[in-house]
Amino acid sequence: MANHQADREAAVEKALAALDLDARCRLLAGQDMWTLPAIPEIGLGSLVMSDGPIGVRGVHWSPEDTSIALPSPTALAATWDPALARRAGQLLAQEARRKGVHMLLAPTLNLHRSPLGGRHFECYSEDPLLTGAIGAAYVGGVQDGGVAATPKHFVANDSETDRFTVDVRVSQRALHELYLAPFAAVVEQAGPWALMAAYNSVNGTTMTEHSALQNDILRARWGFDGAIVSDWTAARDTVGAASGGLDIAMPGPRSVFGSALAEAVRAGRVPEVTVEQMARHMLRLAARVGVLADAPPAVAEDALPAPVNGEALAHEIAQRSIVLLRNENDALPLGQVRRIAVIGQAADQARALGGGSAQVFPPHTVSPLAGLRALLDEQTEVSYVVGADPRVKIPPAKAGFDLRVRLFGADGNPLGEHPLPEGNVEWIGEFPDGIAVGELHSVVVTGTFTPRVGGTHTLAIAGIGPFRLTVGDKTYFDEAIVPNGDPVAAFLAPPEVLIEVELAAAQPVSVSLRHTVTTLAELPIAFEKFALGHQEPNIDPDALIEEAVAAAASADIAVVVVATTPEVESESFDRTSLSLPGRQDDLVTRVIAANPRTVVVVNTGSPVQMPWAQDAAAILLTWFPGQEGGAALADVLMGRAEPSGRLPTTWPAYQDDSPVLNVTPTDGVLAYEEDIYIGYRAWQRLSIAPRFWFGHGLGYTTWEYEAAAFTPATGDIIGTLAVRVRNTGDRPGRETIQTYIAHASQPDRRLAAFAVVEAEPGETAEASIPIPRRAAEFWDETAEDWVLPTTAYHLLTGRSVADIRLTTAIQLEGPHA
Ligand code: BGC
Repeated sequence: MANHQADREAAVEKALAALDLDARCRLLAGQDMWTLPAIPEIGLGSLVMSDGPIGVRGVHWSPEDTSIALPSPTALAATWDPALARRAGQLLAQEARRKGVHMLLAPTLNLHRSPLGGRHFECYSEDPLLTGAIGAAYVGGVQDGGVAATPKHFVANDSETDRFTVDVRVSQRALHELYLAPFAAVVEQAGPWALMAAYNSVNGTTMTEHSALQNDILRARWGFDGAIVSDWTAARDTVGAASGGLDIAMPGPRSVFGSALAEAVRAGRVPEVTVEQMARHMLRLAARVGVLADAPPAVAEDALPAPVNGEALAHEIAQRSIVLLRNENDALPLGQVRRIAVIGQAADQARALGGGSAQVFPPHTVSPLAGLRALLDEQTEVSYVVGADPRVKIPPAKAGFDLRVRLFGADGNPLGEHPLPEGNVEWIGEFPDGIAVGELHSVVVTGTFTPRVGGTHTLAIAGIGPFRLTVGDKTYFDEAIVPNGDPVAAFLAPPEVLIEVELAAAQPVSVSLRHTVTTLAELPIAFEKFALGHQEPNIDPDALIEEAVAAAASADIAVVVVATTPEVESESFDRTSLSLPGRQDDLVTRVIAANPRTVVVVNTGSPVQMPWAQDAAAILLTWFPGQEGGAALADVLMGRAEPSGRLPTTWPAYQDDSPVLNVTPTDGVLAYEEDIYIGYRAWQRLSIAPRFWFGHGLGYTTWEYEAAAFTPATGDIIGTLAVRVRNTGDRPGRETIQTYIAHASQPDRRLAAFAVVEAEPGETAEASIPIPRRAAEFWDETAEDWVLPTTAYHLLTGRSVADIRLTTAIQLEGPHA
């Protein structure tokens, strides 16, 4: 191993020595959306990157290029199981290799500072220790497979409003104890080969140029030896980024590195040795992932982990991540039932994954309805009604439509034509048929629509730029749709224009939507996204709810699936409300009133208000559960599997109770005024309780916490806590033992360590839990270092931060004993 490393470094130095300044600079700039240039003369192949974190999309943003879709990062964190996270990482490396990807842009290690954070679903937790533990295991798994992981977004990208420009003002203590901590843990425990610099600024300096955090902390203090890549378009200044520690600017071809960097060196504005170091980092990354010939890759072909069945793992993680939030009178598991009423738009069309760059295209998605139908025998009648449709946007045209998409050049010459399964055009990073940016002038969605029912149909155009919509021989719209606000955000979540059209049942009409392509100055890459939406007449929301009430009343059990939509929970914007969108709260309240045996399934990536929580028989949280989510849910409902997830984040009862709600910068500045008090650290100082505490989650059995004994140690751990628990129920179970630490004289507790155990009914399980020194330390701003107060502590062990079963008093002696 050591020799391999020496050989690899030697190969890197040899390659470096063979490159002149221009070639070195060329290596550091994206050649397109996802790749770096090859330099065949030195045996360097093109390094390919792809988004994660729940799958590997690859270089094509297209439903034709499918990827296994695992549950959302919040779900993975809810397993509290690093071993499972490692297996997830290994599967993703396998997916990456299958798709020719060398570097996975994941995991996301930012924190759940506020429940309003738009990318909350893509991060793990409000707790830095849990985030670091899951993140390190995930990175370890990806790199076991010889693929580079890229923890992101370094650092303090904890919300999305004005994310390109926001200046986060945060104390050094909060930075070290909270926001840097997961990155530090991952660097130390898993040694990532790459890392992504965020868009935002921290205390006045944009992250791609932040020498104090990138050069001094990340590299010098923590020993990170990989390559730092910019978030997409985050590198803005050649000299600033090169001096600030950035190695690779993405995407390309327009770039602040490449020839601009070479010019800056020649003008004496960037020292040549800086570029040498940047190129060394890039070549080391290339060598590790096996694209530098003659350099032994970090993982030899014959040392790769055994192949994994992706579908099975997606199913297992989804099962393990489901959190049973409430289960009155053991309403679950269901046991024998004759009639189940399944209700909710997301029961049929599951929200399997979160949107934005995290999007992948799974080969299939198992909805809750399909999962239940597949599991239940013919003795059980499963009925389905929508109840409420929370989508605020009209869905893409599909049923009754027969569509194609045509591409044209500036002079009207046809460039290509493809079938279009639904009215959604989305090309990011590349156009079909190899059409170049600038060459594509207009795109036409065209075909026929045969209405199922007659009446006033609604057609929707969602997009930016000039559109012309024609139905039959009439033109209904011929204007430009102008973005209001951030144009990039508007591209990702475009505005929508609604058009009403009178149509007769079963009479086919021709439909054509022409769009003239706009290239954004901010994003000089292939990017085309618009939709033709359609909604049938007469959807009366009250009638839908009445239909659900009737279905629930005549069933033994009602299962209502509620969800957020991509319009309220996604990348590039924050949430404005924690309420479920549309009429879903009304729906749940009415269904519960009609049938007290109502199980509510919450299909969201992050917290929502549940005003009906105290009345539901049971509440299951599935997160965005990935492609096999419906099958996993059915297993849990029917008791084939135990819901053993635990909340990685506190869920408020009401939005306004939340300790941190400010995600909107003032004059460009977002002050983290709450300092170190986010999540449960803040909740435990409030007089109101949240709906569900950090760590909460029930199971199908019960546990007795019998004993805890502490053995002190020195070094990176302060000691080991041996904990014994007994399964006192009548089913085998899995328990997540959580240990918090607090000064004996103070109420503030924080997570110190945790372990997952399993036991048969009546049996005990023991866990030997190392307590890291860091859990007891605090960041001293004057000393600019960690300090361990030597005092009396309590180790509090239990089922959540608020459900402590055992207290162990300990005394720490000497700061560096
Ligand atoms: C996101 C990153 C992502 C990148 C490439 C950015 O907008 O913030 O997380 O990796 O795009 O898709």
